[in-house]
Amino acid sequence: MSISVVILAAGQGTRMKSTLPKVLHKISGKSMLFHAIDAASEISDDITVVLYHQAARIQSEIEASYEGLHFHMQDAKKYPGTGGAMKGVQTKNERTLILNGDMPLITKDSLLALTDGDSDINMSVIQLEDPTGYGRVIIENEAVREIVEQKDCNEVQLLTKTVNAGIYAVNTALLEKYIPELSNNNAQAEYYLTDIVKMAVDEGKSVHPVYVEEEEFKGVNSKLDLAHAEEIHQRRIKTEWMKAGVSMRLPETIYIDSRATFEGECMLENGVSIQGTSHIIASHIKTHSVIEDSHIENSHVGPMGRIRPNSKLIDTHIGNFVEVKKSTLTGVKAGHLAYIGDASIDEGTNIGAGMITCNYDGKNKYKTTIGKNVFIGSDTQIVAPVTIEDDVIIAAGTTVNKDVKKGSLAISRTEMKTIKNFFYKFFTEK
Ligand code: UD1
Ligand code: MG
Repeated sequence: MSISVVILAAGQGTRMKSTLPKVLHKISGKSMLFHAIDAASEISDDITVVLYHQAARIQSEIEASYEGLHFHMQDAKKYPGTGGAMKGVQTKNERTLILNGDMPLITKDSLLALTDGDSDINMSVIQLEDPTGYGRVIIENEAVREIVEQKDCNEVQLLTKTVNAGIYAVNTALLEKYIPELSNNNAQAEYYLTDIVKMAVDEGKSVHPVYVEEEEFKGVNSKLDLAHAEEIHQRRIKTEWMKAGVSMRLPETIYIDSRATFEGECMLENGVSIQGTSHIIASHIKTHSVIEDSHIENSHVGPMGRIRPNSKLIDTHIGNFVEVKKSTLTGVKAGHLAYIGDASIDEGTNIGAGMITCNYDGKNKYKTTIGKNVFIGSDTQIVAPVTIEDDVIIAAGTTVNKDVKKGSLAISRTEMKTIKNFFYKFFTEK
């Protein structure tokens, strides 16, 4: 790979109206910056991220997930703007691709198109009905002349509908020559990276416009943009999984994290949410169920089931209003209304409605172990830590607070009384 990538992520992102740095806002479960880094990693082995606002926080998040990236701190007080961001950045390859950290929809194919050919500068260009806010690209005789920022445009330039999408592949030697020569003599008193285009044209260098799809190059500036970008991203994810054989009922109502994976014949009903790094194999997830960071294999969940992180369901049936957390269930049926937390439950076991694992005493979490072929009656509390061995019956209403041996019945129940004609005495006698 002979291209370096620089990702600009120093801007404040004021329009997000958020304490979280703009580039850390997520699209389909992954931050916008990580989407950009992932796309860059597919084409380059020399990636630099330019930071300034909340730099330490962003850098530590990146370092927790990636190795070998370079960081550059922009001196944004002295050198504000996209050109200022590039000041002092060193890249090792002959060409350098400059990306924005807030464009999460860019695909590898578009990046490759931008790095194609041997022009001194390839720049991304979009045709827009409404060019408001973008730098206008002045093209004469099919060659780029310059980019003029909206705030610096004259009335004629403002009418230009060909705009700068903000991504460039530049001959690194030229970049190193032009960046120190940028001035901030413009309406925003910023150092504009876009000025390198005019500098190159004036020296007779080749600047080639690469026409790109608006959808991929839309920058995210507000929470509205973020929601729109996620809709587009979700549509892409679901299209790919449906092509791979996943069935979806009313796909527009389904959410799938970009890190989730499917195998075999899976069915997702409407309103389902598959979050985190969930792995679903040959399973049916019914209406309005939520799966988080879990492994679901040859199982049914829902409607309205909730499977929380680190759960593993194999050959299992989970019905409505059942919550499972950090538990392993193999060949289990839990048809209705239960909480199963920090448990491991084995083959042939039936969990009655209203069973609760009492896994937390207010200080610590404890484990419940339930063996094979256990029948757990309705409305039972299993007070952890506790082990219920194979072939056990737990009677309805029991509070299990001791281990139960193989083959036993456990029952804790107050004897029931009936008082004849009590109703009439209570309600009708004066
Ligand atoms: C820029 C382009 C404009 C183009 C538009 C496309 C310039 C001068 N203008 O404008 O022609 O139409 O993108 O979206 O480049 N950043 C820094 N440091 C800074 C300022 C910005 O790293 O001091 C980063 C931001 O974090 C962001 C990117 O650069 O990722 C673009 O900055 P932004 O302010 O959005 O640029 P625009 O004004 O939209
Ligand atoms: Mg700006």
